[in-house]
Amino acid sequence: MFAKITAAAHACPSHIVSNDQLSTIMDTSDEWIFSRTGIKNRHISTGEDTSDLAIKVAQKLLDQKGLDASELDFIIVATITPDSQMPSVAARVQAAIGAERAFAYDLVAACSGFVFALSTAEKLILAGQQKGLVIGAEVFSKILDWSDRSTAVLFGDGAGGVLLENASSTPFVIAEELRTDGSRGDKLTSGATGVHSPFAQVDGPKASIQMDGRAIFDFATRDVPKNMLSVLTKAQLAVEEVDYFLLHQANSRILDKMAKKIGADRHKFLQNMAEYGNTSAASIPILLSESIESGKLSLGINQKIILSGFGGGLTWGTMLIQL
Ligand code: ACO
Repeated sequence: MFAKITAAAHACPSHIVSNDQLSTIMDTSDEWIFSRTGIKNRHISTGEDTSDLAIKVAQKLLDQKGLDASELDFIIVATITPDSQMPSVAARVQAAIGAERAFAYDLVAACSGFVFALSTAEKLILAGQQKGLVIGAEVFSKILDWSDRSTAVLFGDGAGGVLLENASSTPFVIAEELRTDGSRGDKLTSGATGVHSPFAQVDGPKASIQMDGRAIFDFATRDVPKNMLSVLTKAQLAVEEVDYFLLHQANSRILDKMAKKIGADRHKFLQNMAEYGNTSAASIPILLSESIESGKLSLGINQKIILSGFGGGLTWGTMLIQL
């Protein structure tokens, strides 16, 4: 038996902040933000933390399938904005929904987090686990430097996830390739703590997000298309045979360039960053859940989908899956 996504859900804070609203608190404009990124709005927490959003997603997933939480074997939450290092967001979800048998942990791979987590979860299913939740959840607004317009306008808060079950006679992952290049890690950083003790006083880089925007743009548009083509080659599939591309929602211009580089129909690159901004590990599962809700994607009909995440680490990865 193989893994299968049997439910998808998302949950975002209800407070929406438009580009125009941002321009009242910093020196920016709707024209600048939208023309460079495709972003119009983002959902921003007015108090909910990452686990609050992840718990809502988990509950929705269980409700969709009428599943009892005690049937879950594992919960993986991809996040770089946990409520705390201990307990993890996943442990908080496990407690809140009462998944008494499930082991639960967070996975840290920035904007590639959901793809890395889904890949790991599929291996758990292939190794014999029956049911698990894979969630990407972020309250990015709490790690932004709101005085830095070059990053503050790009991000938003939200969560999305899937229920993965041992439930299919056809393979879920057709091919995949996950990558990391730590030597370029300094191009996108957050959460540094330094070393402070009676024996050392060493400051790290700033804790808020710091980004070399041009370098990240170049990384995303050079390394990710190669990664997608490599996966298609492994699968012996032509680019036209892919039904849809669900990529990390960082920037619409990045998607334009990627589609061109791999020779794909741009209309097959689904996008919702206009409404959510960049929600890091949550962006792909929110898009997946919305696309199922809108009827563009359907579970169980073997549509061929490319999922690609890319971001801090640097990390990037592509999975070619059958829904
Ligand atoms: N509003 C108005 N002006 C701004 C803003 C803003 N929010 N931010 C920067 N500017 C100004 C800069 O100060 C600069 O002004 P100057 O020329 O007077 O110095 C000018 O706009 C151009 O700045 P650049 O950084 O060169 O702008 P660029 O055209 O490169 O666009 C952007 C910036 C959109 C961040 C681009 O580099 C990009 O898309 N990078 C990809 C990074 C990305 O999407 N990261 C998301 C997080 S990482 C991830 O998810 C993979």
